[in-house]
Amino acid sequence: MLTRLLHRIVAFPSVYNWVQIVAGRPRIDELLRQQFTIVQPGNVVLELGGGTGLNRHLLTPDCVYICLDNDPVKLRGFLKRHRGDIVLQGDASQVSIRDDCMDFVFFTFVSHHIPDSLLADCISEGMRVLKRTGVFIFLDIVWSHKRLISKLLWKYDRGSHPRSADTLFTKLSQQGKITLWKPFVIYHEYILAIIVPDPT
Ligand SMILES: C[S@@+](CC[C@H](N)C(=O)[O-])C[C@H]1O[C@@H](n2cnc3c(N)ncnc32)[C@H](O)[C@@H]1O
Repeated sequence: MLTRLLHRIVAFPSVYNWVQIVAGRPRIDELLRQQFTIVQPGNVVLELGGGTGLNRHLLTPDCVYICLDNDPVKLRGFLKRHRGDIVLQGDASQVSIRDDCMDFVFFTFVSHHIPDSLLADCISEGMRVLKRTGVFIFLDIVWSHKRLISKLLWKYDRGSHPRSADTLFTKLSQQGKITLWKPFVIYHEYILAIIVPDPT
């Protein structure tokens, strides 16, 4: 009951953004910003499950940014702040974009919202739309029984598909070549990973 009420409150874009700040998002932004320096003006970036577009301000304003999400409320929240960008309402496991046309695909804080039956499809859709020279950037919370605070946060998280780092490594390495694997801790344990299309 309490969990359901919290989920409904956090679904509001402005509340979601505020919760992210309290949960340590500014520190995570710093890590992402370091990776995002490779995004150049004119590059095309697709964010799968982009939500309210919290990553947008970390990128050069001159890139082409497409925010795909299945939640129209989040996308409306995004458009209020980023009128010049593109939104696509749809499912990350079935992306209606042609092959081989994105320079970057981001998949941040989304995998724990995706059931096992669809996670491989979401990652493979991201890899499919990437150019051969493209880069897939993954970041998410991982399940760990070691940290009490993390167990508590998982209890109230809207995402109901926690996975261990090993499970995520296996799923991601089935779809491409992992060139960065960076675990870190801010209340939760996280993984930041970079995957590129496998040349073989
Ligand atoms: C925790 S939010 C992360 C948003 C954003 N990526 C970020 O870093 O702030 C998870 C987002 O994934 C979206 N989502 C969940 N399942 C999805 C699916 N199957 N297809 C597209 N978006 C999905 C939700 O609507 C939500 O906006």
